Amino acid sequence: MTLYDVIGKTYASTRRSDSRIAEKLLELLASSQASMIADIGAGAGSYALVLAECGYRVFAIEPSATMRSQAIAHPAIEWINGSADNLPLPNQAVDAVIIMLAFHHFQDYRQALCEVHRVVGNGQIVLFTYDPAMISSFWLTKYFPSFIQDVESTFLSIPQLIDEIQTVVGHVVNVIPFLLPHDLSDSFAAVGWARPELYLDGSIRNGISSFAKIDTDELDNGLSQLREDLENGMWDQEYGHLRQRKQYDVGYRFIHSPAI
Ligand SMILES: C[S@@+](CC[C@H](N)C(=O)[O-])C[C@H]1O[C@@H](n2cnc3c(N)ncnc32)[C@H](O)[C@@H]1O
Repeated sequence: MTLYDVIGKTYASTRRSDSRIAEKLLELLASSQASMIADIGAGAGSYALVLAECGYRVFAIEPSATMRSQAIAHPAIEWINGSADNLPLPNQAVDAVIIMLAFHHFQDYRQALCEVHRVVGNGQIVLFTYDPAMISSFWLTKYFPSFIQDVESTFLSIPQLIDEIQTVVGHVVNVIPFLLPHDLSDSFAAVGWARPELYLDGSIRNGISSFAKIDTDELDNGLSQLREDLENGMWDQEYGHLRQRKQYDVGYRFIHSPAI
């Protein structure tokens, strides 16, 4: 049983694809002629579905049966039970690989990168990830301080991630900051940067792995403090300026290894 078999039961209801993220992903993929894509750690397939609807053939690789069971079927998507460190695909099977908020879950990430390189050859790799150097400046950590240690120990730093990828692919990769829209529809950890009330909703928290990992006391204390600060206006006094913003750099990054 995988982590997401336990925590992912309602994933598809809150982790819908976001059109702005999808648009950026499609723009990067359009930089070379790609038709076959592997989506590794595809989850419930929200981004695989976007790609399929845009004409790509997608291999959606996902180890959690709970996640795969929530996917919307599409004739251009082949779902495969598999893990990043032993990809069930032949050499150079695809033109591009995408890894959307999944790389930090790969335990043997070096082996995963070798596998990605094996199946994509000289094709593109697109990662969507988080810069852990940004976590301590996110207001949510005031309420849930252990997020800092969790994120710092889970995500590779961006310089290290770039270095690891460049070592495997043998050429320079690009980092593209992605500013989160205020009305993000994929409810990952920073979804409430301008909408703090969202974190009081258990169904939103259920789709966020960092919340699954904190202890009950920290969760209860953080939630009651946040609720109180929203009721007495303290949150708005300190962070209310965020409600006026359309987008904000919370720390999300696309990493793009172009085709050669
Ligand atoms: C946060 S979810 C992201 C899912 C999807 N990419 C999305 O953006 O909605 C991370 C996914 O990575 C998967 N995962 C964890 N370890 C993995 C591994 N070793 N190989 C492939 N996928 C893995 C999890 O099961 C989970 O579905």
